[in-house]
Amino acid sequence: MQNALPLTATEHSLPVFDYLVDRDFASDVLAGLSQQQKQLQPKYFYDQQGSRYFDQICALKEYYPYQTELALLPKVAQDLAQRFTGDSLIVEFGAGSLVKVKPLLQALPGIRQFVPIDISGEHLALACQQLQRDFPAVAVSPVVGDFCTTLTLPVMPLQHCIGFFPGSTIGNFTPAQARQFLCNARQTLGPDGWLLIGVDTKKSPVYLHQAYNDAAGITARFNRNILTRINRELDAAFRPETFEHYAFYNAGQSRVEMHLVSTEEQVVDVFGTAVAFSVGESIHTENSYKYSPDEFMQLAATAGWHTEQHWLADKKLFATYLLRSS
Ligand SMILES: C[S@@+](CC[C@H](N)C(=O)[O-])C[C@H]1O[C@@H](n2cnc3c(N)ncnc32)[C@H](O)[C@@H]1O
Repeated sequence: MQNALPLTATEHSLPVFDYLVDRDFASDVLAGLSQQQKQLQPKYFYDQQGSRYFDQICALKEYYPYQTELALLPKVAQDLAQRFTGDSLIVEFGAGSLVKVKPLLQALPGIRQFVPIDISGEHLALACQQLQRDFPAVAVSPVVGDFCTTLTLPVMPLQHCIGFFPGSTIGNFTPAQARQFLCNARQTLGPDGWLLIGVDTKKSPVYLHQAYNDAAGITARFNRNILTRINRELDAAFRPETFEHYAFYNAGQSRVEMHLVSTEEQVVDVFGTAVAFSVGESIHTENSYKYSPDEFMQLAATAGWHTEQHWLADKKLFATYLLRSS
């Protein structure tokens, strides 16, 4: 892999490889709102405000996936340190605030480069500056872009290339999309690549309900923020307060669904297109699929990944898998 072209840098910031193409946002929003079940892609939650709301969600006691995975990672990192003794690089997909990579960087002295990829560019740039200060021996090379597209990564030729995909972000894909992502990640990480991936497990719907319907209403704000973003960036006229956050576990599909439900009959102008809503009609904004360990390992195998090791959190609340390209 070689250096990519769209490099931007300011005097005090790290060079950032920026691949983001804004025109997709407008066409994706209109396409999603024209479907019978209106929908918006969850990647559009993450403007700078959306990333801040996500960080607030991670601090909630109800949102078990974040704290549970974070608590598992020091043990995972210790085990990885036995396995990866040579010079290595980590490529993180959907890196967010870069909290979860820290236990890995602390435990694995061979990590020479870290390439975080995220769609939320300003948030990523700020987080990278701090991480570079904390780990001066690691070359931090941020890439702003959609990890579902083909990205040329600015990676160094090192002995081990380890992909990292925490947060159960893979659960936002349908199983078919997840398989496609895993196939693409194999191409990106190369024939000797590894992938450390965090995936939420199946559990009581009561527990799931609390996690996606927090008492402080932060998840509701996160959900509605997508409408505020569409208004600001695409000249639309949503009144976010007329849409209610609605999240529930769909047992038949093994996924938590998040929707925004119109509380009124209304017509919204979305950059020149009139979009009609009846009372109670929803926009489907996110899925979070849950997988048993057997289901996930089988899915990974169909994408050419062999599970070398996996770790289960207390009460099997969350799982982390180390996959090897087979
Ligand atoms: C659920 S959060 C997880 C954040 C962090 N990895 C963690 O585990 O706490 C999803 C992250 O992926 C990013 N993201 C979502 N869809 C993306 C896409 N298609 N391409 C790149 N980044 C994406 C978001 O900006 C966000 O930082």
